[in-house]
Amino acid sequence: MTRAAPPIHGAAAPTEPRAGPRAAACPETLVAGRTRLIASYDGVREDLRKARSARGPTATQIARMLSVTDQPHGLLLDLLSSSPFLSTGADHAVKRRRAVHILARLGRLWPQERLATEYRRRLTGLMERGGGDLYHDLSLPFLKAVIADAIGLDAAQMEQVFKPVSALFATAQRDDMRLQDFQSIAAQIEGLRPIIDSVPVEPLEGMSPQSSLLLMAQSLIPPLLVPANSLTYAQLHLAEHPALAARLTAGQIRICDYIHESLRHFGALDRTAPGRAKDDLTLPRGEEIAQGALYTCSIARANRDPARFDRPDVLDPERALRSEITFGTGPHRCPAAGFSLILLETALRLQLELCRIEVVGEVSIARTAIGPRYQTAPVRLHPLG
Ligand code: HEM
Repeated sequence: MTRAAPPIHGAAAPTEPRAGPRAAACPETLVAGRTRLIASYDGVREDLRKARSARGPTATQIARMLSVTDQPHGLLLDLLSSSPFLSTGADHAVKRRRAVHILARLGRLWPQERLATEYRRRLTGLMERGGGDLYHDLSLPFLKAVIADAIGLDAAQMEQVFKPVSALFATAQRDDMRLQDFQSIAAQIEGLRPIIDSVPVEPLEGMSPQSSLLLMAQSLIPPLLVPANSLTYAQLHLAEHPALAARLTAGQIRICDYIHESLRHFGALDRTAPGRAKDDLTLPRGEEIAQGALYTCSIARANRDPARFDRPDVLDPERALRSEITFGTGPHRCPAAGFSLILLETALRLQLELCRIEVVGEVSIARTAIGPRYQTAPVRLHPLG
């Protein structure tokens, strides 16, 4: 099985690098569907630093969509207006405070030692079985267990909440939202009422316990797929590059440098939510995006910008420049960046210490609007020592 560098996701028609000076090798923007993608590193960095006003569907759009139905959708509207991923409802400063609070609580509940104990338990379980699917049997259930615990859900409740909350996130990121998508999600979220009413929760600033629980689910569940996929990628890359794994184990390369570089290379979170330009936008290389135009930042594409990185398609943990945009920058910077880095480093360090991974079948990755997602990753685990 051979796996080339993963494709960059998100653009309708990938543009081949042009010959010429390095700065011209990557166009500043691309067009995907109805959305302009800011694709150059400097363009993305510049844009992320600004407080964007329009992210995802606006309150008016959603209200218009839902007003033509007579279904109940109180919970959905509640969730849409409080989600930190959307521009709807309360202003971002309020949402940001709540998101930071939720993430701080996650960090307190899951310090490094507890993460290590949980990951070791799951990894040794899979080793005893000889192997399995690295993503579906290890990374994903590990992340789900951590997040379920932080929200206060048991495993069965987590499975019920996972689907509608993830579907809402994915739908809200699309630039072609349809009424029927929201209707179906509204019905699924209403179906969660028994769970929402039964799980005790400490209310968040200015919110009912029920809305607080939903907001925690919305802030923590969809993003968990990003570290789960990233961890799988970092491990599979080392399975194919044993010399690099040996250098990491020997301490010749720092694990944190490898993690940062594999996040850049993989691009598990490809794009930010589509928004409309608040004002005319001039990008660093002079390209313009007119006021009102739909646009988004492709972090994955920018992270492969040859104007910024030498040999951008090569995963090189010793490269001189780190990416500063993988977790975003500015007012929306990922509030879980520190937690995610600790989690990834802890899991990878333990795995390198405890076992060697052998890929034993077809590894497949699906392309979603938000980024690449593992479908299959069959492996055998060989205990070390
Ligand atoms: C490798 C792991 C991760 C990466 C690369 C990542 C990346 C990002 C990026 C680029 C943004 C900014 C998006 C924008 O500007 O629109 C962001 C925002 C966010 N992330 Fe993460 N993330 C990761 C893990 C997580 C996890 C595990 C959680 C929660 C459990 C999380 C929660 C959030 C939240 C709530 C925001 C919204 C912040 C705001 O808009 O103010 N992230 N993330």
